[in-house]
Amino acid sequence: MIKIIGTGRKLPERSVSNDELAAMVDTSDEWITSRTGIKNRFVCTKESLTDLAEGAARIALEKANLSPQEIEMIICPTIAGDFSFPSLACCLAQRLNVKCPAFDINAACSGFIYGLEIAESLISKYKNILIVGADMMSRLIDWNDRASCVLFGDGAGACVVTSGGALKYIRNNADANPEMLFAKSRTGNSPFTNEESDGGFAAMQGQDVYKFAVTAVGEEINLALAKLNLSAADIDYFVLHQANSRIIDGVRTRLKQPPEKFPMNIDKYANTTAATIPILLDEMIDEEKVKTGNTLMMVGFGAGMTTGTCVMVWE
Ligand code: ACO
Repeated sequence: MIKIIGTGRKLPERSVSNDELAAMVDTSDEWITSRTGIKNRFVCTKESLTDLAEGAARIALEKANLSPQEIEMIICPTIAGDFSFPSLACCLAQRLNVKCPAFDINAACSGFIYGLEIAESLISKYKNILIVGADMMSRLIDWNDRASCVLFGDGAGACVVTSGGALKYIRNNADANPEMLFAKSRTGNSPFTNEESDGGFAAMQGQDVYKFAVTAVGEEINLALAKLNLSAADIDYFVLHQANSRIIDGVRTRLKQPPEKFPMNIDKYANTTAATIPILLDEMIDEEKVKTGNTLMMVGFGAGMTTGTCVMVWE
């Protein structure tokens, strides 16, 4: 049983508007805004992903009123850290001067919820667990491909987890289909293969991802509600992965719920992959939207295709 006792977020300094992108590729603010809800994103220029993860982690630790040395495990949900190895979590452990188990998990945009389930299963052994969802999609997307480069931004979101009764439900899943959304690993220079590199850029079947997201998120929400014997009206906030405002609106409309129960910040940050949920959660806490006793349902979906769903009654 776990609860979240501190959250933090860190975005790069450099902000990039839709208009700035429209000067680089054949797109427009109108196209991007109407199809996705995105107006802006932040992109690393000088910062490493470890810098962002450290920034978010330190804020979360401060809010949790803990020193880094009180952390007993670090989990970083991420698609790709600054190195193939060591993990982003180990780089972060060095920055925080912490000696404890530290590892990354890759469940793409569902990674934060996967991280919570791992924390839940290990909390009896490790007292305080730091989870930092962080991604730098700016180095994985093809900046000449207008269909994908407009969708993503860089960022990190952190939380500190400890024992508590907040988590009422958690379910992670993979409906595996690696062709729908992927970035291939580097090929290296092995003399034993003729495999050619495709550049390692992110690629996706946009409309298939869209359909998967609306359907799978809707199903996972209904499954969670049924399991807890709740209705959508009983949930105060649905904190959904911020990939596209139309996906979120599609899910919301099917559930017949008002917009204020589906907070969004995709207009400011675009899709920061594993970081969207903890960044949004941290903003909601800073804005004092989340109050003790509120019921939150968090749902991630992403490459795999993975989903992650949890329900927390805030403590
Ligand atoms: N600007 C202008 N035109 C564009 C752009 C752009 N940035 N991108 C594509 N187009 C064009 C296409 O070339 C196409 O032109 P054509 O009709 O002449 O061939 C036209 O717009 C329509 O393209 P579609 O792909 O059909 O556009 P669609 O309405 O499906 O919207 C979008 C595309 C926004 C990508 C949508 O499919 C979507 O949001 N899918 C989900 C994507 C997503 O969320 N991915 C990440 C989720 S998982 C994760 O977070 C890792």
